[in-house]
Amino acid sequence: MSASLSLTYKKVDKIFNKEGKDPVRALKEVSFTIEPGELFCLLGPSGCGKTTLLRCTAGLESISGGSIFYGEKNVTSIPPFRRNIGMVFQSFALYPHMNVYENVAYGLRVRKTPEAAVRKKVTEIMDLVGLPDVLKRNPSPTALSGGQQQRVAVARALVYDPEILLLDEPLANLDAKLRRHMRAEIRRIQKITKITTIFVTHDQEEAMAIGDRLAVLRDGIVEQIGTSNELYKNPNSAFVANFIGKMNFFYGSITAVQNKQIAVDIDSRVYTFPEETLAQRFTEQLAVGMKVLVGARPEHLYISKEKMENSIQGTVNIIQHLGQVIRYEVQCHMDVADKQMEIDMDDMVEGIGEGDEVYITLDEKSASVFSVEGER
Ligand SMILES: Nc1ncnc2c1ncn2[C@@H]1O[C@H](COP(=O)(O)OP(=O)(O)O)[C@@H](O)[C@H]1O
Ligand SMILES: [Mg+2]
Repeated sequence: MSASLSLTYKKVDKIFNKEGKDPVRALKEVSFTIEPGELFCLLGPSGCGKTTLLRCTAGLESISGGSIFYGEKNVTSIPPFRRNIGMVFQSFALYPHMNVYENVAYGLRVRKTPEAAVRKKVTEIMDLVGLPDVLKRNPSPTALSGGQQQRVAVARALVYDPEILLLDEPLANLDAKLRRHMRAEIRRIQKITKITTIFVTHDQEEAMAIGDRLAVLRDGIVEQIGTSNELYKNPNSAFVANFIGKMNFFYGSITAVQNKQIAVDIDSRVYTFPEETLAQRFTEQLAVGMKVLVGARPEHLYISKEKMENSIQGTVNIIQHLGQVIRYEVQCHMDVADKQMEIDMDDMVEGIGEGDEVYITLDEKSASVFSVEGER
């Protein structure tokens, strides 16, 4: 096995139909580096450019600007068949007319590997993906379950020791339980092989669970890169905050900025936020009267039966037991907030049932203050 490579994008641009009448700029100056051996997630809504970035990485699409490096090697103009890439797709894309063994062996046959080495490698890789028995029976892939087919697809991509592994929504066709199991499997396999890997998904829970780090993509732009924890705790925009877990939003305006604190009026209640709560992407100069968006995670809002200082009134719609927390869905009465709030409490709050009026308070130290422009 060769040493793991880094993967670097420098101002990568992709424009489809560049000369046509409806050009689409699918990637906009994408620049970042994936570390050698890293399991990196690309996360973003449908149409944001995830597949395009993968296809450009593999050389299946040429790029319109910028460059791509495998380690120190600039591969921008190297055709796909000269790049040693493993790919796995949502649709599995196994060859139905070949048995499982031949499906997995395919990449080695193309590389003219001797039969004995093929047998050894296919056996090894099928062990690694947890399918030694399937290999013994060696049926057509159409006779396998969805989860097994996906394992075969992973085996087929790994068998020739690719320098980079690219997985495009590989679990999207599996049911929820199998998906959770398979993402742990993919992480296990990736950590053994140490092949630098990009895992694409639109499912934030999946991205947070599987990735060493993740990039959130929006309209061809990398919004933020970090570990799950960094993105959850310090989202640099309201978009990322809302994409990585739930965030409740309030509209307010600044009434004072002093002593490293920002006072914000939300519907005539004044809250005071420490300056650390200001999102990184906040570029404008703070000024009195400026509109801001205040975000609070479900675990940073509290409800009570009694009216409290600076509390916001709402009606409990639904109460759900989620194991570790109790989630209260509360319909807020104010125009300046999300109508439907999610509030997580450690325990059932005595005396509060569905349909009851409650008062919401917010932990100012744990909130995030975002600029309003361009969000939502
Ligand atoms: N071959 C193509 N020709 C024209 N536009 C394309 C092509 N492939 C993708 N696009 C456009 O590029 C954008 C990004 O697409 P894609 O990378 O498939 O998004 P994702 O995988 O994140 O859902 C979309 O607007 C899509 O319509
Ligand atoms: Mg896609």
